[in-house]
Amino acid sequence: MDATPRPELFDFHGVSMIKYFTDNWENIQKFQARPDDILIATYPKAGTTWVSNVLDLLYFGQREKNIPIYERVPFMELFHPQVGSGTQYADELPTSPRLIKTHLPVQFVPKSFWEQNSRMVYVARNAKDSVVSFFHFDRMNKSQPEPGDWSSYLQRFKQGKMVFGSWYDHVNNWWKKRETYSNLHYMFYEDMLEDTGREIDKLCSFLGLTPSAQEKTRIVGDVQFDNMRKDEMVNYSTVPILDFKISPFMRKGKVGDWKNHFTVAQNEEFDEDYRREMKDPTLQFRTAI
Ligand code: A3P
Repeated sequence: MDATPRPELFDFHGVSMIKYFTDNWENIQKFQARPDDILIATYPKAGTTWVSNVLDLLYFGQREKNIPIYERVPFMELFHPQVGSGTQYADELPTSPRLIKTHLPVQFVPKSFWEQNSRMVYVARNAKDSVVSFFHFDRMNKSQPEPGDWSSYLQRFKQGKMVFGSWYDHVNNWWKKRETYSNLHYMFYEDMLEDTGREIDKLCSFLGLTPSAQEKTRIVGDVQFDNMRKDEMVNYSTVPILDFKISPFMRKGKVGDWKNHFTVAQNEEFDEDYRREMKDPTLQFRTAI
């Protein structure tokens, strides 16, 4: 049994965080990005691993398959005694380009990424499925704060008291960034699930890649939920801090599982709050496909 207590949430420059993502702050802020780096940015549980795997296969489809995804695509801000340092993994990555994952709100991204004009892929997922997925993740990840019961968790989500802060701020501020930073491709989990091939085409056109039809078909197949769920190198089953007996990392992979969690009253309250928070009509999410 691991006796390490779960971390506490605290306010960090206006965003709720835990020590595992702030303890290495100086190195994160001075992280040296390269012009060909690709930063994969998301609010937690938006399909980071899915898109990371797509990009890894597009660039390095032929490479050794025995390296887990979190080493192929380091998690930049992670600094954890059992899992290591994301900036160190990134610094040691032998690949070009480097694929780097982050959950940081846009204002925290190290400035060298902007200076180097690195490409960024942002993946967003609708709020209701995000909070459900996050809840189950917090139950099984012993390095996240204690989630408590579902209804209090949902309240905290609305208040932005989650690791990496408010979902609303995250998706909106990254969306707004597109106006001033053109090397940013904003995509949606729901679109990926609806038509993975179409979304991979869009990604390729953003990245300037031209995979053969055969290669593309293979990648679309490899990244289907059932295949990724079985693949030890992408399903996180090798991470010691996760307890798969509570919930698997690759849990359902659906749009609309929120309907199995929200009560009618919770849904009404959520919608009311959502309308207040989401003022930009150009940013629209689908909670069903
Ligand atoms: P669920 O908990 O709803 O199943 P992240 O990688 O950002 O932590 O996101 C994890 C979520 O993405 C989980 O959602 C997981 O099941 C889902 N996911 C991962 N790979 C997927 C795939 N290939 N197809 C659909 N969903 C996937």
